[in-house]
Amino acid sequence: MGNNKVKVFVNIGLFVSCLLSVHFVKAQNLVNGKKIFETRCLVCHQSDGGGVPNMNPPLDGASNVNGKDIARLVKIIQNGYDERVALDGMYYNNAMTANPDLKEDAIADILSFIRNSWSNKAGMVTVLQVKAAIAKNKAKKK
Ligand code: HEC
Repeated sequence: MGNNKVKVFVNIGLFVSCLLSVHFVKAQNLVNGKKIFETRCLVCHQSDGGGVPNMNPPLDGASNVNGKDIARLVKIIQNGYDERVALDGMYYNNAMTANPDLKEDAIADILSFIRNSWSNKAGMVTVLQVKAAIAKNKAKKK
């Protein structure tokens, strides 16, 4: 085999392993997100993400969960939520508990999980996006 051919094969190998590692990192984040969901969120939002009518909103199919406002989602995870505003046209009278101890990577994992579970197919959330969201929320508070 000529030297150039070897180089091509090495490069293809690197490319494929790169793709695979992106895939495994993503899977790992979702596994961790699932664990967090089961310990902290399932009790209210239910294992099928369907919520409880009039009490806890569904996460499955929710427009905000699948939407672009990551800063709002990060804020809800960190501070809890008790706004009693309409969510996809419905009101919920329970109050969501805060998660002040969740680290930035854990917040990325739980958001990636709820945005990619059940029928949801939104983008993954990265640690960088969580950091940017926290900075944005802080700036708003002042
Ligand atoms: C004690 C019950 C409870 C727990 C535990 C809980 N939630 Fe909630 N969650 C709620 C309620 C109730 C609301 C809506 C509050 C309102 O309308 O004022 C809500 C709202 C939300 C929303 C906004 C939904 C929308 O359509 O805008 C998201 C996202 C969310 N929760 C995710 C989570 C995640 C992720 C966890 C786990 C880390 C979690 N919740 C844990 C009860 C809970």
